[in-house]
Amino acid sequence: MILLTGATGRVGAPLLRRLTAARVPVRCLVRDPKRLGPERVRVQIALGDLADPPSFRNALRGVSTVVHLAASARDQPQGSIEELNAIATWRLVQAAERAGVEHFLFTSALGATAHDRTRFLRAKALAEQAVTESGLRHTILASSLIYALGDELMTLLSRLSLLPLVPLVGRGRAQFQPIWADDVAECIEAALDRPVDPAAPNLRVELAGPDVHTYAEVARTVLRAAGRPRRLVPVPLGLTSRALRLTEALMKSATPVTWDEAELLEVAMTTPHGTSGAERLGVAPKRLAAVLGTA
Ligand SMILES: NC(=O)c1ccc[n+]([C@@H]2O[C@H](COP(=O)([O-])OP(=O)(O)OC[C@H]3O[C@@H](n4cnc5c(N)ncnc54)[C@H](OP(=O)(O)O)[C@@H]3O)[C@@H](O)[C@H]2O)c1
Repeated sequence: MILLTGATGRVGAPLLRRLTAARVPVRCLVRDPKRLGPERVRVQIALGDLADPPSFRNALRGVSTVVHLAASARDQPQGSIEELNAIATWRLVQAAERAGVEHFLFTSALGATAHDRTRFLRAKALAEQAVTESGLRHTILASSLIYALGDELMTLLSRLSLLPLVPLVGRGRAQFQPIWADDVAECIEAALDRPVDPAAPNLRVELAGPDVHTYAEVARTVLRAAGRPRRLVPVPLGLTSRALRLTEALMKSATPVTWDEAELLEVAMTTPHGTSGAERLGVAPKRLAAVLGTA
């Protein structure tokens, strides 16, 4: 039995479809089972929350593999970015060790270091450390920017494209190698199926798409795909930060984008190894323009 967290997310949804199609027994740790859509009748459900580590114990009963995708780049009412990513992963690892789990797969991010400027990437680095320092056999997949059709970033950009000019966080110069969520899901499935090498049981793979794009280029491609190419207007970071913090104070959790999320677009997420990590798992990542149909 696999315990999958984050099954309702960009990567989790296509991964869950693949696993259920292959008739792999899956239990999903979810806050709201309705968000699983039609897949909810094909899986076991464990109600749980990253902010509620005691919920992990029941979810782990009889589980041999954990695929831990759930994460949050914004504070939630029940937990901060640090609690939801670093502490929750650490507690899930501990609970998995106690439950006799054999394999723990964790999705990290390129550029996650303990001294990164963003809270999210610092928390991811601590989470990754909790996994690598555990006694569990582990696989870590560290990705660049992951996108899916209609995800939050694309939805935000297509809403902003109703304006004559589209504001950009800072200058939009940070570089990414965007990788499609379906390609990441295929990589995870391959990592789960890979035979274990007893001499080197653990694996860390960097996942990146074929092209290096600045955030401004990503935004332009998305706007072109939406049929509304627009001029991008850089907004200084100080101003973006003040405006987003004010919006958060007014709109609380309904805010479309928080400062912590926006700041992530200012931090490069690249690997010099390009697509070779994905290829090592037998996956050839598609180009952003091809997935969006603008190639
Ligand atoms: N997206 C990227 O650019 C990117 C880049 C590098 C690494 N990653 C990592 O790759 C993994 C998958 O990313 P993704 O883009 O698929 O994430 P995503 O679309 O943001 O989905 C996040 C998932 O986490 C769940 N979640 C959030 N808060 C939770 C909580 N308090 N308790 C339980 N579940 C909670 C969400 O469930 P609900 O339906 O309940 O909200 C959702 O299923 C994550 O670990 C992410 O950090 C992502």
